[in-house]
Amino acid sequence: MDSERNDEDGGYSGPILYYTDAVIDHFTNPRNVGEMADDEADGYACIGDPGCGDEMKLWIAVRDERIERIAFKSYGCPGAISTSSMLTVLAEGRTLDEALAITDDDVVGALGGIPENKQHCSLLGVKALRAAVASARR
Ligand code: FES
Repeated sequence: MDSERNDEDGGYSGPILYYTDAVIDHFTNPRNVGEMADDEADGYACIGDPGCGDEMKLWIAVRDERIERIAFKSYGCPGAISTSSMLTVLAEGRTLDEALAITDDDVVGALGGIPENKQHCSLLGVKALRAAVASARR
């Protein structure tokens, strides 16, 4: 997905410069926020973005190769929080292989786009999910 928004009515067609309603919703009411105890979690990752100091912790509980529960804590900007939240929504209930196939474009697309200078924020969640899956498979 690109960050261009095309209006079929011939309106503004360019980069998204604002937070969509979905981003604001997931930022103000993030899903799956929390932690898991060591004996609950099968996979865990802590990923930071050295460029901006944001950080995400992600836990997954796996049953029959499927993500049964997922929880996160993120310290960061609205882009980081909303994409972390949406990532958990997309990953919950997926098999580990399906979870590994989730891309930052999937996350950004599910939020209806995020401003171009915030697109890197979605990488935090995708990286954390991939690392958590790898740790669950160890
Ligand atoms: Fe750091 Fe958004 S500005 S992840």
